[in-house]
Amino acid sequence: MSEPLLLTRWSELQRWLSGQQRPVHMVPTMGNLHEGHLRLVDAAARHSNASAAVVASIFVNPTQFGPNEDFDRYPRTLEQDIERLSDRACDAVWAPPVETMYPYPPKGRIGVTAPSDLTDGLCAGGRIGHFDGVVNVVLRLFNQVQPDAAFFGEKDYQQLQIIRRLARDLSLKTEIHAVETVREPDGLAMSSRNQYLSAEQRQTAAGLYEVLVAQAKAAMDATHWGTLSTLERSGIRRLQELGFETEYFEFRHSESLARWSDPEYRIDPTGLHLLAAVRLGSTRLIDNVAVARQNCR
Ligand code: PAF
Repeated sequence: MSEPLLLTRWSELQRWLSGQQRPVHMVPTMGNLHEGHLRLVDAAARHSNASAAVVASIFVNPTQFGPNEDFDRYPRTLEQDIERLSDRACDAVWAPPVETMYPYPPKGRIGVTAPSDLTDGLCAGGRIGHFDGVVNVVLRLFNQVQPDAAFFGEKDYQQLQIIRRLARDLSLKTEIHAVETVREPDGLAMSSRNQYLSAEQRQTAAGLYEVLVAQAKAAMDATHWGTLSTLERSGIRRLQELGFETEYFEFRHSESLARWSDPEYRIDPTGLHLLAAVRLGSTRLIDNVAVARQNCR
């Protein structure tokens, strides 16, 4: 493998794209790449046995960070990211400056908003405007690159559903593909934020996946929404005992992300996901599992 071509100007990107005779597969990222991102690149290169041109974008998107979030602290590691990508089948890196992504100040921008049905709580609850920032930057990236397919991790499950909606609702030509969450040997989902954990917090962090799996397995026998509420409460208690502060721990419908408040509402547990956001100190971790997948593990 060789180093991917670094493209930082719009004209360079367009020149590169016009030389491609093959489908273009894209992996949008904010950089600080870890094995989870690299597996997205692998999936993009492998997909449908196509000899696709694979482009990863690296852009730390200011519009998806809230005023008290870690935008300034977010690691910018372009050189290291390019080195990591050199071991994988990545042809180019699109790393635009902020002026290319947002040529106008906020008041002058044309924007889209994330749909309210998919932003009812979960990560949208505590992060006002976060998914608006995500859909706007992804739409801009797709407009720039016009990829045939784009690859996103299942760890950011709500984001994945919203981006699927974006592509479908706006008739974008880009096919959206989900890639299974990559985990450390103890089950912790890989994330750029794991590096902020102390050694002790890192040990505790593995408990999140354990609790998700245990409650999702128990949910396989559930017939009503009321049983799930009980499992949510016992899951939150278990997380608290382990030392987590829980932001949410909720069963939702896998596609619509809907939940029902009626405890008598009948459910098919195989169509559900269990999603969680927790804090260990100042570090926020998210993860989720598909209830159906716990059956065969
Ligand atoms: O998942 C991410 O890294 C970001 O939210 C994305 C999709 C690259 C948009 O900035």
